[in-house]
Amino acid sequence: MTAIGVFDSGVGGLTVVAALAQRLPDESIVYLGDTARLPYGSKSAATVTQYTRNNLRFLLQRGVKAVVVACNTASALALPNLEPEVPTWGVVEPGARRAAAVCSRHVGVIGTESTVRSDAYALALARLAPHLRVSSRACPLFVPLVEEGWHDDPVTEQVARRYLAPLLAAGVDTLVLGCTHYPLLRPLLARVAGQGVDLVDSADSVAEEVARGLAAAGLAAPPGSAVEHHLYVTDASSGFADFAQRILGPATRPLEWVEVT
Ligand code: DGL
Repeated sequence: MTAIGVFDSGVGGLTVVAALAQRLPDESIVYLGDTARLPYGSKSAATVTQYTRNNLRFLLQRGVKAVVVACNTASALALPNLEPEVPTWGVVEPGARRAAAVCSRHVGVIGTESTVRSDAYALALARLAPHLRVSSRACPLFVPLVEEGWHDDPVTEQVARRYLAPLLAAGVDTLVLGCTHYPLLRPLLARVAGQGVDLVDSADSVAEEVARGLAAAGLAAPPGSAVEHHLYVTDASSGFADFAQRILGPATRPLEWVEVT
């Protein structure tokens, strides 16, 4: 089995796994959720880069042929400093490309504190579509609310109204969900943002780019390949197991607990 490796700081990256599994049904996936060291979103670039190095090494030791960094914070802070040995995709560029394709005037970007501080989305958008205005806002409370399972809860809605108010007042017409956890808040965020604001996340765009990249590099699994998904975590979490089953279906293999150093 030569799988695609995917990692995130926790559960949220499974939304990218779901998009990959749908777009690339013949590919096996090895997923690492670094639950022991979550959150990455409040940590420095040096620390996130060190964790990312460790995670890449873990996946490469399992023989993966390509890597998807599903974590926005790691994509923004660490990936530019690293040169992985196999084709590797982050989520910032695909998300920015999708936003540039749908936005007419003003992009709002929401993410963790570290992602927003890095300006990675704004820089990518400035390269791809210099005519667009970009406003960013860190939404640090969203990750714990999603981890708590409060995806559609009045408390989360109140928090969202407060976070999004300045972006909506500034007239954004597109909102980039620049964090793995935010697609899980999509119905609530759509309600708060209102019609006329397109919500963009990276999962489908990165799956499309990986499909094209694997095909171009001659690395795509042949049709009808036996598929095996492995889910590794660095700390046990029953919530993670439930979440994995909800996203990937009841046949999902049990979580394997590993140490990543
Ligand atoms: N995976 C992180 C991201 O996409 C969110 C959770 C965290 O802070 O580690 O930015």
